[in-house]
Amino acid sequence: MANLLEIDSSPRVNSVSTRLARVFVARWQVANPAGRVVRRNTSEEKLPYLDAGLVEAFFCPEQERSVEQRRSLELSDRLVDELLATDVLVIAAPMWNFGVPASLKAWIDLVVRPWRTFELTAEGVRGLVPPGKRVFVFTARGGSYGAESKYGELDFQEPYLRALFASLGMVDVRFVHAEQQHHAGGESMRRALEKIEALEI
Ligand SMILES: Cc1cc2nc3c(=O)[nH]c(=O)nc-3n(C[C@H](O)[C@H](O)[C@H](O)COP(=O)(O)O)c2cc1C
Repeated sequence: MANLLEIDSSPRVNSVSTRLARVFVARWQVANPAGRVVRRNTSEEKLPYLDAGLVEAFFCPEQERSVEQRRSLELSDRLVDELLATDVLVIAAPMWNFGVPASLKAWIDLVVRPWRTFELTAEGVRGLVPPGKRVFVFTARGGSYGAESKYGELDFQEPYLRALFASLGMVDVRFVHAEQQHHAGGESMRRALEKIEALEI
């Protein structure tokens, strides 16, 4: 049975990024009728930011952790388990201040875990997420950041998320951006929906 994990991050009821993710997931469910979907919205969950105790617990070898440190890692462990158990990861992200919302970053900070999803070696960072997982990222932006745009270099979402997932060993990453959300017409939404239709499930 295939698993899909959908991480939404917009707090908006009419979120464009969430809508795109839902359209994709509905297609995936048709192709995988027995598939299991786990859904989270980071803007609703109020995930904790890493504090001194959590950072220390992250980097403390498992056999040396105190009971309190183990307890403090329970949420992070659960989120990592979810990520490792999934075949397909779907991220829905509005562009906020050229990047991803802080609540999505909070989820990221909890799943990027030494010895669980990455390790530091003499050669650098090595991803520990088993190969074969596919990642689909759906973003919505007010502006336009494509190659033809003079603002292209301000897209800190796609390069950031590509680098991040690559560091965990996840290199099969597809993006669909719905841009110019502040312009009337819905043209970019139509194009984004077409791209979703063309994605190989
Ligand atoms: C706090 C905030 C920051 C934003 N920053 C940007 C930005 O840097 N660049 C941009 O193109 N649009 C920006 N926008 C516009 C959103 O990306 C746009 O409204 C998008 O549709 C939001 O996604 P959602 O519909 O999934 O919530 C911002 C909107 C908000 C509320």
